[in-house]
Amino acid sequence: MVNVSNRSRVAIIGGGISGLAAAKQLAWLNPTVFEATSLIGGVWRHCSYRSTRLQTPRPDYEFSDFPWPDRTDPTFPTYKEILDYLESYATHFDLWRFIKLESKVVEIKYLGDESRAGFTELWSSDGQALNGQPMWEVGVVTGQSETIEWYKFEFVVMCLGKYGDIPKMPVFPFGRGPEVFEGKVMHTLDYCKLNEEETKELMKGKKVVIIGYKKSAIDLAVECAKTNQGSDGQPCTMVIRTLHWVVPSYSIWGLPFYLFYSTRSSQFLHERPNQGLFRSLICNLLTPLRTGVSKFIESYLSWKLPLEKYGLKPDHPFHEDYASCQMAIMPGNFFSEADAGRIRFEKSSKWWFWEKGVVLEDGTKLEADIVFCATGFEGKKKLRTVLPNPYSGLIENNSGIMPLYRGTIHPLIPNMAFVGYIESVSNLHTSELRCRWLASLLKRRFKLPGVADMFKEVDIETEVMRRTTRFYKRHCISTYSIRHSDDMCREMGWEEWRKGNWFSEAFSPYSNQDYIDEKKD
Ligand SMILES: Cc1cc2nc3c(=O)[nH]c(=O)nc-3n(C[C@H](O)[C@H](O)[C@H](O)COP(=O)(O)OP(=O)(O)OC[C@H]3O[C@@H](n4cnc5c(N)ncnc54)[C@H](O)[C@@H]3O)c2cc1C
Ligand SMILES: NC(=O)c1ccc[n+]([C@@H]2O[C@H](COP(=O)([O-])OP(=O)(O)OC[C@H]3O[C@@H](n4cnc5c(N)ncnc54)[C@H](OP(=O)(O)O)[C@@H]3O)[C@@H](O)[C@H]2O)c1
Repeated sequence: MVNVSNRSRVAIIGGGISGLAAAKQLAWLNPTVFEATSLIGGVWRHCSYRSTRLQTPRPDYEFSDFPWPDRTDPTFPTYKEILDYLESYATHFDLWRFIKLESKVVEIKYLGDESRAGFTELWSSDGQALNGQPMWEVGVVTGQSETIEWYKFEFVVMCLGKYGDIPKMPVFPFGRGPEVFEGKVMHTLDYCKLNEEETKELMKGKKVVIIGYKKSAIDLAVECAKTNQGSDGQPCTMVIRTLHWVVPSYSIWGLPFYLFYSTRSSQFLHERPNQGLFRSLICNLLTPLRTGVSKFIESYLSWKLPLEKYGLKPDHPFHEDYASCQMAIMPGNFFSEADAGRIRFEKSSKWWFWEKGVVLEDGTKLEADIVFCATGFEGKKKLRTVLPNPYSGLIENNSGIMPLYRGTIHPLIPNMAFVGYIESVSNLHTSELRCRWLASLLKRRFKLPGVADMFKEVDIETEVMRRTTRFYKRHCISTYSIRHSDDMCREMGWEEWRKGNWFSEAFSPYSNQDYIDEKKD
């Protein structure tokens, strides 16, 4: 154990998009960014296949003060382009001086008064986060060293990432798990570590089963089908627990997709937190219109994609997938590979292993050489492994979501913020705006409400999400994101309506460009 003195007042843990945005917005505090790996970029570096591309339109996934070199390019950037963009961002704003690579945070200790912890209004005793008092001690392991170095900070920003790093693996009773299977079981995260030759060698001519039907699973099925062209190729079977809507592009019956959900007028149709009685009434009256929009999109998807043919049409409305940030963009060749018999589908809510593959709920036995679990990630586990007690036990509430005020502050965890844990259509935008809001808080431009009020706000929001989508645990704000931004603007002392004229205000989409620093900041 080594104690290291540092002049930095703020620790930022994680060098992905959220950590970089936090470093830029808190640069005036000379932060230290601890990044576990040898490179920045987070999931785009460690969790991408060769075919991975952004699925958010390029101009929406852009730092407000750092445009893409060619922002009108309609293609979706590859993960390599995204990494180049992030490195240029770090260079342009001289963020490298803050970043410590190969520095994994393994433990964090609270240094404040334990008996007063848990009351955010007592942050550093006067309700303010920065008061010259170290509040957290951060234990860091560097490179291959086994020694923990300890650094003290007044404030910590957790940007460890909701995805990546820790795979979510299905669990089975003994005798039905991978121990009985004679083939290989891998998570998509393992697949990301392989080079092109290794992936070909792994899948060519092999019977592959993929568990899952979301973006990681869909992209992997296409890569598997590509590898298995020719007479010795084998089909790849997707085992689907829940069907979800997939989208071929951001155009619906010729109309731009943003018209349906990303403008003030379109979000007006949806329930939002604290909307008041009158608006609730209007919202109820607008239910047929809301349903109509969803059905309009569903009609296009059912016409454009062979969902009926393959039994892939979900029973739930499209807007529930949109409201939970689960809408996957379908790779162009997915259904042509299915038509060629190289991708197959099996629906089963339960499954388990046998010696030669997997068994489905109806008793069907699928043979497999490899079973890929495209089953997602354990983001909260990452937080739990570094946070001390009792805080590690507080990160999820009874509804199974993180109780974060403005998606950033846990009312019971003092002098700490969380960025990258709520989602929207552009997670970069969501993270960057929250970092601006956090910077404003740390500059004492406003004070946080009391603990009870923050929890009340979180509960109201959770209820709205719960009423909007059965998948509310994804903690997604996409149907009321503009309202969420308005609330933050108001607290920061910014204009809430930012378009300048009523027509744009009603019908043009809100993006990060609408939140470029106001002069006084
Ligand atoms: C394959 C993939 C594609 C995606 N595509 C899109 C998309 O098209 N649009 C969209 O809006 N969102 C997308 N997302 C969501 C994506 O997670 C966010 O857009 C964003 O990149 C998340 O950034 P982050 O910084 O919050 O987290 P991450 O990118 O996960 O970064 C976290 C960083 O923290 C580091 N870290 C973790 N633990 C520690 C520790 N203990 N000590 C030090 N460092 C640590 C990690 O090494 C990592 O670098 C995608 C996610 C995945 C997995
Ligand atoms: N830009 C891109 O190209 C790209 C690429 C990959 C990922 N991503 C993003 O990365 C994030 C993670 O995506 P992901 O696809 O890795 O994970 P995910 O969205 O969490 O999806 C996990 C999938 O596995 C299924 N699953 C989980 N446990 C299961 C079990 N025990 N049995 C059967 N099925 C199970 C889930 O089914 P249920 O629906 O029933 O839970 C779901 O289909 C998402 O935000 C996604 O949009 C983006």
